[in-house]
Amino acid sequence: MTRTPFIAGNWKMYKTGTQAVETAVALKDMTAEISGVDIMIAPTFLSLPLVAQAVAGSNVRVGAQNLYHKNEGAFTGEVSAPMIKDSGAEYAIIGHSERRQYFGETDASVNLKIRAAADCGLTPVLCIGETESQRDAEKTFNILDKQVSDGVKGFGSDELNDLILAYEPVWAIGTGKTATADQVDEVHQYLRNLITRLYSKDFADKTRILYGGSVKPDNVKELMAIEDVDGALVGGASLNAESFINIINFRN
Ligand code: PGA
Repeated sequence: MTRTPFIAGNWKMYKTGTQAVETAVALKDMTAEISGVDIMIAPTFLSLPLVAQAVAGSNVRVGAQNLYHKNEGAFTGEVSAPMIKDSGAEYAIIGHSERRQYFGETDASVNLKIRAAADCGLTPVLCIGETESQRDAEKTFNILDKQVSDGVKGFGSDELNDLILAYEPVWAIGTGKTATADQVDEVHQYLRNLITRLYSKDFADKTRILYGGSVKPDNVKELMAIEDVDGALVGGASLNAESFINIINFRN
């Protein structure tokens, strides 16, 4: 089974609208001739429509970094899946560890958000990953099992709209510490088997599993060479178009 590699940039709370459009346009130009890789950038909510418009018709797709699970209502400060979809975005990152750590997100709220995304045709990018203390306590696989199983609880495979998983060990995010190839290999195989158990081999074979956590131009090739790594979710190194293009061009 060949899965098209998926390289995503999570811009977190960086860049004004003007700066986001500038980087997006640079990426659009740099990726004009690229094929065989899916590219997504996730700017802030505020920049979503601007960036989506700037890259329309190009090889660059756009995603949100979060969403609220209700479609509309008196929920001050929140943004819904239909609003995101209408802005031109096609993806939604859900359950990023920073959301879990600083904004109280749980596997239950993640499940509701995946439901909201799937219901309006946004492809969810479900983020999972263990903390350093969980890894030290040898709880990595229990944690991942729970994050995935509870995250997709109640869904049939036909509803998941090309679910993408992103394994991001919390201790590797923004720290410059990447998991070793052996650690990534072990976890990604585990996740593929878990999806097989939860759904089917066919579904697991087409589900893309990304690695995230200090992915840089100089380590992406080694990571992408791991059989069950189907792409990367990149934070810091996606903010600069030159650096991100070197990750997108991981084959070179
Ligand atoms: P990083 O962030 O590449 O800066 O470690 C990855 C992420 O949080 O998605």
